[in-house]
Amino acid sequence: MLSGLITMRRKLVAGNWKMHGALTQNAELLDAVRSGMVTMPGVDCAVCVPFPYLAQAQQKLSGGAVKWGAQDVHQLDKGAYTGEVSAAMLRDFGCSYVIVGHSERRAYYGESSHLVAEKFLAAQRVGLTPILCVGESLEQRESGITEEVVAGQLDALIQLGGVQALRNAVVAYEPVWAIGTGKTATSAQAQAVHAFIRQRVASHDGKIASGLCILYGGSVKANNAAELFAMPDIDGGLIGGASLVADEFLAICRAGART
Ligand code: 13P
Repeated sequence: MLSGLITMRRKLVAGNWKMHGALTQNAELLDAVRSGMVTMPGVDCAVCVPFPYLAQAQQKLSGGAVKWGAQDVHQLDKGAYTGEVSAAMLRDFGCSYVIVGHSERRAYYGESSHLVAEKFLAAQRVGLTPILCVGESLEQRESGITEEVVAGQLDALIQLGGVQALRNAVVAYEPVWAIGTGKTATSAQAQAVHAFIRQRVASHDGKIASGLCILYGGSVKANNAAELFAMPDIDGGLIGGASLVADEFLAICRAGART
């Protein structure tokens, strides 16, 4: 079995602020997260903030244990694309991570799995770590096609970039029905999809599969994080609402450090 027993993967807990924030409240949140993260071995922690707050995140978090990133990126390196932001621009602000293919972008902005794969590779070209989001809707789960949907989202990247693109990479399984709904997938439901993702990558390359960091996202809170993170193929979380509350977010990071 390709579980955490074979490779000791570090946990990652990444916050996704989505379209929330304001300078004054961000300053408090970033200070609290930075000072609370001083000693947590075994877990990496990051916050993905809206573009305008990247400079603030960089200023507040530089030199500390918390990394930062963005929530989207353009697939091309530069050009006449008004309003868009390139991966190199994110790197200029010290980003380590960028989320690509979040279900909200797939649903509201029509992002296809092919476009998401292009964004993933654009981020990697400049040395950022993209976090590839995959996940099924409630309707898809109820029709029994969860694995088919997730496989399609993953395969688009493997087709475009080869399995090599997933070396030391981060994938986040975020069932759409669990995002912002308070309805968390059970640890068994999440583990089953995480194991499926790892197996699918392993069918191309076992070593890459066992090094792959697979996060769970969807209503992760301080009171359910430890149970989720204890599963062998769950390597941390992508945290929405709870990342806006310092104590809650830090408690989730601590759960990652313990498991
Ligand atoms: P919630 O944690 O608010 O459910 O959001 C999950 C998410 O979409 C993170 O990217």
